[in-house]
Formats: sequence, C-alpha cells, structure tokens
Amino acid sequence: MEYKELAALAAAAKEKAIPSYSKFRVGAALLTDDDKVFTGGNIESSSYSLTLCAERVALFKALSEGYRNFKAIAIASDDPDFCPPCGSCRQVLNDFCAEIDVILINHKNELKIFKLGELLPFPFGDANLK
Ligand code: THU
Repeated sequence: MEYKELAALAAAAKEKAIPSYSKFRVGAALLTDDDKVFTGGNIESSSYSLTLCAERVALFKALSEGYRNFKAIAIASDDPDFCPPCGSCRQVLNDFCAEIDVILINHKNELKIFKLGELLPFPFGDANLK
C-alpha cells in the first residue's frame, strides 16, 4: 500500500475519534507486514490521564488481534501542520515495532516520513531490563 493511501486512512480515522474534552482529533492508521491496516482515533476519559492516543488505539487493536509485525503508521490530526506522535506513543511503538516508518500528514495532504529511531533516539527498551 502507498503511504499516501495509508495517510488518507489516518485522516478518515480521525472522524471517529472521541476527544470529548480537548476537542482535538487525531487519527492513526497502522500497516502490518502483510498489508492489513488497523486504524484508531484518540479516546478521552473524564479522568483525563486515562486518555488513549490514536496511535496506541491502532497498535493495541492490532496486537490484540495477534498481529506483531508492522511497516508503517500514519498520523493525521486537527492541527493544520504536521502532528508528531507524543513521547508515550513513541515509547510504545519502540517496544513493539522499533523499525517502523512514521508518516505525518498535514491539511495540505503533504507527507513527512520519519524512521521511529529519528523521533526517539537512544530509547529505553527490552535490552535495559536484562
Ligand atoms: N493525542 C494523540 O492521539 N496522539 C498524539 O500523539 C498526540 C496527542 C491526543 C491525546 C489527546 O486526546 C489529544 O490528542 C490532545 O492532547
């Protein structure tokens, strides 16, 4: 699948976000190694810190369905500019798919593509626990 198409799926997923408090919608579309896509939108709780970001919703959906290998994640948001993943999502993505491509889409439908390692250099991970 083309990254442009994955980014369009992230933008569509944003429509189903539940940002009850911030009103800031984020959508993510995660591409597995075998070209299946899992999408997610941010889901907020009245106990704010329990909020789940769109990226982790998409990732946890895929993990809970048994998928373990991922090529790319696209992220769209209500920010007209590119919306980078938060630090917590970078950490969790690193735990499950350190080599993943992160694709950001802005409101002009332009893409920015990063390796996760560029966004989270010198990460904490499995290796530190041994
Ligand atoms: N949010 C995401 O869904 N992903 C990110 O990487 C950044 C932040 C959500 C969390 C919260 O619901 C809203 O955006 C405002 O912070």
